[in-house]
Amino acid sequence: MTGPALELQQVGKAYGGLRVCADVDLGLAAGELHALIGPNGAGKTTLLDLISGLQPVDRGRILLCGRDITRRPLHKRACLGMARSFQITSLFPGFTVRQTVELAVQAGENRGLSALMQRADRDVRLREPATGIMEQVGLADRADIRAENLAHGEQRLLEMGMALASGASVLLLDEPMAGMGPGSARELSRLIKSLKGEKTILLVEHDMEAVFTLADRISVLVQGRIIATGRPEEIRANDEVQAAYLGSKCWI
Ligand SMILES: Nc1ncnc2c1ncn2[C@@H]1O[C@H](COP(=O)(O)OP(=O)(O)O)[C@@H](O)[C@H]1O
Ligand SMILES: [Mg+2]
Repeated sequence: MTGPALELQQVGKAYGGLRVCADVDLGLAAGELHALIGPNGAGKTTLLDLISGLQPVDRGRILLCGRDITRRPLHKRACLGMARSFQITSLFPGFTVRQTVELAVQAGENRGLSALMQRADRDVRLREPATGIMEQVGLADRADIRAENLAHGEQRLLEMGMALASGASVLLLDEPMAGMGPGSARELSRLIKSLKGEKTILLVEHDMEAVFTLADRISVLVQGRIIATGRPEEIRANDEVQAAYLGSKCWI
């Protein structure tokens, strides 16, 4: 194994006078499931914005498989294998689950804009991989439903399906279980667990039971700074983490 699959070196970001991320060092090994936890407003979403390229960093470097992507725009980072879930229903109105996944498979093939402009649903080659993805995320029986008519939790599963269909190796997941019913949350938890070792995942999640069950390692972000990184049992036993964040929660 060479260097980390994803690495942040001294990353910093301020909005106006507000310093949102400071001196963030983070390294994810290939196939690692790394959870990022911390109170509301700690800067977790901002950090994902910086990694995905949605926002530029003020300082520091971001490396993907050793390659410096700090100045690469969002779409270039996506081409290099990074995926972040996004709101599908506003992007592809009227598309069924199958069409949405087929489009994502097609986009992941990186065949250029002209290929993308073709009707994905006429391309029979896309059916098989799309069926596999829908089975993987537990939406095979919803294939012909329009994406906007899915329940909220199912839409989040579809977002995961799109990220997987794109063929990305690094997944950035921002509170994927938020607002999910117990059925979809269980399905997503099972899915994320099944991806361990295969995808490199940075998971921001408030569900501490899921975090401590799923994560290989956990980093704790407080006021834009990482105050601890370690295996779940190390984070549980960390006094500073207890005082700053976990102490007030029923998470054991
Ligand atoms: N685009 C922005 N412009 C100005 N301030 C922002 C912006 N995005 C986030 N912030 C501020 O940065 C801080 C961290 O926010 P955020 O990254 O969303 O935290 P978290 O995801 O941990 O709850 C908050 O104080 C928030 O108000
Ligand atoms: Mg957030």
